[in-house]
Amino acid sequence: MQKHKMKSNLPIPLLFLSLLFSFSWAALGLTHQQQHHSFLQCLNRHFGNANSISTVIYTQTNSSFSSVLEFSLRNARFSTPNTLKPLVIVTASHVSHIQATINCSRTHGLQIRIRSGGHDYEGLSYVSQVPFVIIDLINLRSIDVDAENKTAWIQAGATIGELYYRIAEKSSTLAFPAGVCPTVGVGGHFSGGGYGMLMRKYGLAADQIIDAQLVDVNGKLLDKNSMGEDMFWAIRGGGAASFGVVVAWKVKLVPVPSTLTVFTVNRTLEENGTMLVHKWQSIAPKIHEDLYIRLFLRAVNSSQQEGKRTIQASFVSLYLGRADELIDLMQESFPELGLVKEDCIEMSWIQSIMYFPSDIPEDAPLEILLNRTGSAGIFKGKSDYVTQTIPETALEGLWQRFYEDETESLEILFSPYGGNMDDIPETETPYSHRAGNLFNIHYVVGWSEEDASESQRYINFMRRLYRYMEPYVSKSPRRAYMNYRDLDLGTNNIGPYTSYKQASKWGLPYFDKNFNRLIHVKTLVDPTNFFRYQQSIPSLSRG
Ligand SMILES: Cc1cc2nc3c(=O)[nH]c(=O)nc-3n(C[C@H](O)[C@H](O)[C@H](O)COP(=O)(O)OP(=O)(O)OC[C@H]3O[C@@H](n4cnc5c(N)ncnc54)[C@H](O)[C@@H]3O)c2cc1C
Ligand SMILES: *[C@@H]1O[C@H](CO)[C@@H](O)[C@H](O)[C@H]1NC(C)=O
Ligand SMILES: *[C@@H]1O[C@H](CO)[C@@H](O)[C@H](O)[C@H]1NC(C)=O
Ligand SMILES: *[C@@H]1O[C@H](CO)[C@@H](O)[C@H](O)[C@H]1NC(C)=O
Ligand SMILES: *[C@@H]1O[C@H](CO)[C@@H](O)[C@H](O)[C@H]1NC(C)=O
Ligand SMILES: *[C@@H]1O[C@H](CO)[C@@H](O)[C@H](O)[C@H]1NC(C)=O
Ligand SMILES: *[C@@H]1O[C@H](CO)[C@@H](O)[C@H](O)[C@H]1NC(C)=O
Ligand SMILES: *[C@@H]1O[C@H](CO)[C@@H](O)[C@H](O)[C@H]1NC(C)=O
Repeated sequence: MQKHKMKSNLPIPLLFLSLLFSFSWAALGLTHQQQHHSFLQCLNRHFGNANSISTVIYTQTNSSFSSVLEFSLRNARFSTPNTLKPLVIVTASHVSHIQATINCSRTHGLQIRIRSGGHDYEGLSYVSQVPFVIIDLINLRSIDVDAENKTAWIQAGATIGELYYRIAEKSSTLAFPAGVCPTVGVGGHFSGGGYGMLMRKYGLAADQIIDAQLVDVNGKLLDKNSMGEDMFWAIRGGGAASFGVVVAWKVKLVPVPSTLTVFTVNRTLEENGTMLVHKWQSIAPKIHEDLYIRLFLRAVNSSQQEGKRTIQASFVSLYLGRADELIDLMQESFPELGLVKEDCIEMSWIQSIMYFPSDIPEDAPLEILLNRTGSAGIFKGKSDYVTQTIPETALEGLWQRFYEDETESLEILFSPYGGNMDDIPETETPYSHRAGNLFNIHYVVGWSEEDASESQRYINFMRRLYRYMEPYVSKSPRRAYMNYRDLDLGTNNIGPYTSYKQASKWGLPYFDKNFNRLIHVKTLVDPTNFFRYQQSIPSLSRG
C-alpha cells in the first residue's frame, strides 16, 4: 500500500526524464544539447591545426548531414523519418580522428557505430536505439598493392571494387578472393568472413589477412603484434566492430591464370531444372577446386506458356583455366547440365569481376569498379548452411514458395563449399562453417518504396520461408552467416550487459564453437563493453 502510494506520487515528467537520460552524463545534470556541445568541444580540444578534426565533423544542422548519412546506406529499410539519426558523423581522414572520437564518446557516454561500405543487412553500421556517433571510414580508403611480394595494405574504407581495380592495375595474374558486389566495404566484409567465386580455391577474404591496424577502446593504435594473438584471431571473422575500429588490413594476394573461363547456363523446371538442382548439390562441392559453380533460383515467366510462371535455375560459374579443359571437366563431372563451348567465355580475372554483378552493363569501363554510388534497396535477407543434400520433393515444395505474392524479387543463392574450405580447421578463425558444409544458402527479398508500409508482410514471408527450410538445413545450432546479418535470430539488450543465453541465440548460429573464445577475447580487450551494438559479442566481466 505504502509503496504503491509513493510510486504514484513521483512526478510523471521526472520519471520520463529519468528514463530518457539514464546515461552517465545525465548524472552531471547536463541536457541533451549541452552534452552534445560538450562532446563536440572534446573532439576539438584534441587537435591543433594539423589533422584538424573540425573539417570532418557533420552535425545534424550541417546541410550535408543527410547526404553524408545516405551515401553509404544500402538498406533503405533503415532510412525512415522514424530511424534515430546519429548526433554526429565523423568522416575520419586521419587515425587521430578515430582516436579522438573513441576517447570523447567514452567520456560522454555515447555509443559509436562504425561504417565502411554500409552494406550491413540490418543497418548495424548506422542504426542505434540510443544516442550515437558514426565513425565513417569513407575518407580512409587508400590501397597499396605490392605485386612483387604479393601483398596489399588496404584501408578499411575501401570497397572490394576499388581493391580489385588496384590489383589489376599492377598485375593480370594476381587476384583476391572476396565478394562479388563491388561496392561492399572491406571493413565489414573481411571482418565477417567474405566469400566469392574464388572461395573453393583459396578460402575467404578473412583467411588472407596477415596484419591489421586497429584503434582499440583506449584509443590506442595497434597492429598484429601489439594487439596479440587473441584479438588478431577475433577480428578475422568475428566481426571487428565488437573489438575496435579497423583502420587497415594487410592481405596476401593469390595467383590466377591470365585467362579464365566463365559461363552462365539457365534451366527452367521444363528443362529438367529440379533434377539439375538436385544433382548440383552433390557435384558442385566435390568438383575440382578450380571450378566454382554457384546457383541462383528465381521465378520467371514461362517462355513456353503465356501467363505461366516457372522457376529458373541459373548456373553461374568461374573456371581457373581455358574453355576446352572446362568442357572436358564438365563432361566428366556434370554432363547433365549439357555445357557447350558456346556457353563459355574466356577472359582475364578482372573482366570476370565485371561479368558477375548483374548490374554492370557489358560495355562498362573498368572504372565502374571505383564508383561507390550504389542504389539503396529495401530488403530482408537470411542464410543457411546445408550439410546433406535436399531431396527433390523438398525442392518441389520450395518452388511453391516462389509463387506467393511477395516473391516478385525473391532470389535464393546456393554457394558451394568444399575444396580449400574443407582444409581450413573450424577454429583457425571465428568463421566456423568449414568441412562438412555442402553449400551456403542466401535468401533475399526486396520491395519498393511504395510498398514500404507493407514491409512487415515481406518480412513475414521470409520467416515462413525460413521455417519451411528448417528440416533440410544444419541443426543444433542452425547455422547462419554473420555477414548476412539477421536480427530475427536475436539481439542484445539495449543496456550495457547481455546474458550469455541471450547472446547465444545469434552467437551460436554465427560462430558455433568459436563463440566462447570470442566472448573470452571481448572480455579481455573491452571489459566495459564500450564497443556494443545490437549483435556485438558480449563482455562477461560483470558475469
Ligand atoms: C549488395 C550486397 C552484396 C553482397 N555480396 C556479398 C558477397 O558476395 N559475399 C559476402 O561474403 N558477403 C556479401 N555481402 C555481405 C557483406 O559481406 C556484409 O554486408 C559486410 O559486412 C559489408 O561490409 P561493409 O563494410 O560494406 O558494411 P558496413 O555496414 O559498413 O559494416 C558491416 C559491419 O561491420 C562493422 N564494420 C564496418 N567497418 C568496420 C571497421 N573498419 N572496423 C570495425 N568494424 C567495422 C560495422 O560496424 C557493421 O557491424 C553483400 C552485401 C550486400 C548488401
Ligand atoms: C558541414 O561540415 C563540413 C565538414 O565538417 C564542413 O566542411 C562544412 O563547412 C559544414 N557546412 C555547413 C553549412 O555547416
Ligand atoms: C586517445 O587516448 C589514447 C590513450 O589514452 C591516447 O594515446 C591518444 O593520444 C588519445 N587520442 C586522441 C586523439 O585523443
Ligand atoms: C618486398 O618485401 C621486401 C622485404 O619485406 C622489401 O624489402 C621490398 O621492398 C618489398 N618490395 C616492394 C616492391 O615493396
Ligand atoms: C540467364 O537468365 C538471366 C535472368 O534470370 C539473364 O539475365 C541472363 O542473361 C541469362 N543468361 C543466359 C546466358 O541466358
Ligand atoms: C532432360 O533430361 C532427359 C534425361 O536425362 C533428357 O533426355 C532431356 O533431353 C532433358 N531435357 C532438356 C530440355 O534438357
Ligand atoms: C511476366 O508476366 C507478367 C504478366 O503475365 C508481366 O506483367 C511481367 O512484366 C512479366 N515479367 C517479365 C520479366 O517479363
Ligand atoms: C555511378 O553509379 C551510379 C549508380 O549506378 C550512376 O548513377 C552514376 O552515373 C555512376 N557514376 C559514374 C561516374 O559512373
